[in-house]
Amino acid sequence: MIFVIFGGTGDLSYRKLLPALYRMAGRDVLDQDFRLIAISNDPHDSQSYRKKVQSALSDYLESPPAEPEALERFLEKAEYLQMELDQPEGYRLLKDLVASCPKGDRIFYYFAVTPELFPVIAEHLDEVDLCDHQKRKLSLLIEKPFGRDLKSAMALNRKLNTRFPEETIFRIDHYLGKPMARNILTLRFANDILEPLWNNRHIESIQITVSESAGVAHRGRFYDRFGALRDMVQSHLLQLTAITMMEPPESLGSDHVRDQKVQVLERLSLPQERDIWDNVVLGQYDANPDHPEVAAYQEEEDVAEDSLTETYAALRLFVHNDRWEGVPVYLRTGKRLARKYAQIVVTFRDTVRHRLFGDHPAVHANVLVISIQPDEAVSFRMNMENFGLGEIYSATRMSSCTECLPDLNTPEAYETLLGEAFRGERSSFTRWDEVEHAWRFVDQITRQCEGKRREHLKRYPVWTDGPKEADELLARHDSSWVGKDD
Ligand SMILES: NC(=O)c1ccc[n+]([C@@H]2O[C@H](COP(=O)([O-])OP(=O)(O)OC[C@H]3O[C@@H](n4cnc5c(N)ncnc54)[C@H](OP(=O)(O)O)[C@@H]3O)[C@@H](O)[C@H]2O)c1
Repeated sequence: MIFVIFGGTGDLSYRKLLPALYRMAGRDVLDQDFRLIAISNDPHDSQSYRKKVQSALSDYLESPPAEPEALERFLEKAEYLQMELDQPEGYRLLKDLVASCPKGDRIFYYFAVTPELFPVIAEHLDEVDLCDHQKRKLSLLIEKPFGRDLKSAMALNRKLNTRFPEETIFRIDHYLGKPMARNILTLRFANDILEPLWNNRHIESIQITVSESAGVAHRGRFYDRFGALRDMVQSHLLQLTAITMMEPPESLGSDHVRDQKVQVLERLSLPQERDIWDNVVLGQYDANPDHPEVAAYQEEEDVAEDSLTETYAALRLFVHNDRWEGVPVYLRTGKRLARKYAQIVVTFRDTVRHRLFGDHPAVHANVLVISIQPDEAVSFRMNMENFGLGEIYSATRMSSCTECLPDLNTPEAYETLLGEAFRGERSSFTRWDEVEHAWRFVDQITRQCEGKRREHLKRYPVWTDGPKEADELLARHDSSWVGKDD
């Protein structure tokens, strides 16, 4: 197998892909003849590139490589090719390099570059006959964002499909590789007690939070054109929504799972009120006098001084089908927030509780929390009488937490995803129709917000919980956000 990374000196390659491949080599998941070809326009040869890989592994692996022989064996598999990706010349060198690999009949192309380069690379590969699916088994792994809106995504898809049919494309949403996101299917469908409760008769609301403490770092140029709705909601948050709310699939086979996810994405909508701002809050991080060392968004490198790009979004939406009619889904995500975490909160309805315990302040609705990161856990909040203390009730958590399991070395998301792609498993990769419906939904919102951002974009100080308007959005519906460890 030959694994070709276009963009082999980028942040994604050094931080995620190369450490994932190294760990896979350590677990003997890569076959003996595995070859890595890394490409970028950085002036390296294979020797100096291997040194860069070595230092990336030391920097980004949780436990840096301990065995020199294993490290050496891995580094030996890597070749480097310096070339301009938008120029044809280098592709002939790539062809020679591929031909020199003894058993190069299975090639994975990983496009770890900006999406504008995707069709350019595909076209140049075709020109040198490196896109011939009859001669070799070819697969294409691509990163989000897949387009900037539905129109650009469709154009990109059309261009890619002329060289790579849908069944050869693996669209990565790395949230789908996170152990707890993957566990949602097992939690929902391997536990019979949940299915009868998983509907609008028993569930009051669903909240999905992906909260980041980091800012845009060196990605200002990219981020300022995208913002939280396009960068995070369209992909990670809607994917988590789809997995949480899909119908049981016919099997766990990738097409059955993805068919059901599409059914959810097709039926998403904001409430049909006239004013979009009743259901959408957009924010942007601003300076905080308590943290003078942290820049406001508009002061970040490559961000426009008068940028109206949202770094925070909160939404109230619905999924229109028999199971979920009337259940609000609250999504929120933002940068430079107080804590880094991602979780799904399922709040169950009060039926018996109210009748028997009235408004007892210590008795709460049952809540199921699926923590996706940094901890991987499921907890269920129940009401119990404090033992021996009479009428005092406390919220008790039943938890399952992977940190509590001895000797469990959970794989990183990219390791899981690459492993699945190598085995040809596809359920953790987004199919085109999922991307299409997610864009259709996000396009509706961005279109309605255009032109009104100046007056509605809410500034929030860095390292706080985001705009207070997001709390008010839920308060208007007698609800409140469940934070980490609430
Ligand atoms: N970083 C992440 O964690 C992350 C997460 C999710 C998705 N993504 C997506 O993954 C893609 C890559 O992200 P990144 O953060 O790794 O970007 P990056 O750090 O800017 O890396 C881009 C890579 O592409 C190379 N490159 C760019 N233009 C080139 C050209 N014309 N010819 C040859 N090489 C060229 C760069 O080489 P030089 O270094 O020589 O310029 C570098 O190796 C983006 O689409 C991004 O949105 C990234």
